[in-house]
Amino acid sequence: MTLLDAAFAHPQGLAGRLGAMIMAYMTRQRNLWTISLLDLRPNDHILEVGFGPGALIQEMALRVPEGFVAGVDASSLMVRQATRRNKKAIQSKQVVLKEGSALTLPFEDNWFDVALSANSIQIWPDQLTGVKEMYRVLKRGGRVALILQPVWAKADQEVKDIGAGLLSTLKQAGFQQTRLEFKSMKPVSTVCALGIKECA
Ligand SMILES: C[S@@+](CC[C@H](N)C(=O)[O-])C[C@H]1O[C@@H](n2cnc3c(N)ncnc32)[C@H](O)[C@@H]1O
Repeated sequence: MTLLDAAFAHPQGLAGRLGAMIMAYMTRQRNLWTISLLDLRPNDHILEVGFGPGALIQEMALRVPEGFVAGVDASSLMVRQATRRNKKAIQSKQVVLKEGSALTLPFEDNWFDVALSANSIQIWPDQLTGVKEMYRVLKRGGRVALILQPVWAKADQEVKDIGAGLLSTLKQAGFQQTRLEFKSMKPVSTVCALGIKECA
């Protein structure tokens, strides 16, 4: 495993701790932009897949005071860190964080109003299976958001191409009313692919 893998993709050990500090610090602007796209309601049930240090979980919990925020992450280190960051909301049962895989989400069908993932899908071993899982756990009318700030992209055109790939994955998983949003950011633009699990 490379140092970058241990810091960000599969956070563990000292590199994972350092990566978590960087992610928690560097993602605030992206997290606030993400929230602005989600049209959150106070009683929404939200799921974040691949929450890392849990900074977005914390921001979302503040905005759904009568709702519920759940998270799944494959890294035990990230689950511990995000648990520490969200301690009060976990104690009051407004937040639940689980160690697990995007490919087999530990939640029942038709449970969430919003399912999202930020800078994690590029690491999943099978993106379509993960997005189909998000579809499964969403209620009819539920909203999905896949956010990616691809730091490896060399130009904005590459970010657009990545967005087109995310959109295609959403459609294959069954989502409708799909669309892309872009935000110019440093060091590279961010794309968000959005969609709806439509009523039958
Ligand atoms: C680059 S970090 C992003 C963390 C956070 N969402 C952010 O934007 O700062 C990727 C996260 O995805 C998690 N992850 C990677 N593969 C996963 C999988 N198959 N299922 C669930 N989580 C996964 C990692 O453990 C890590 O916490």
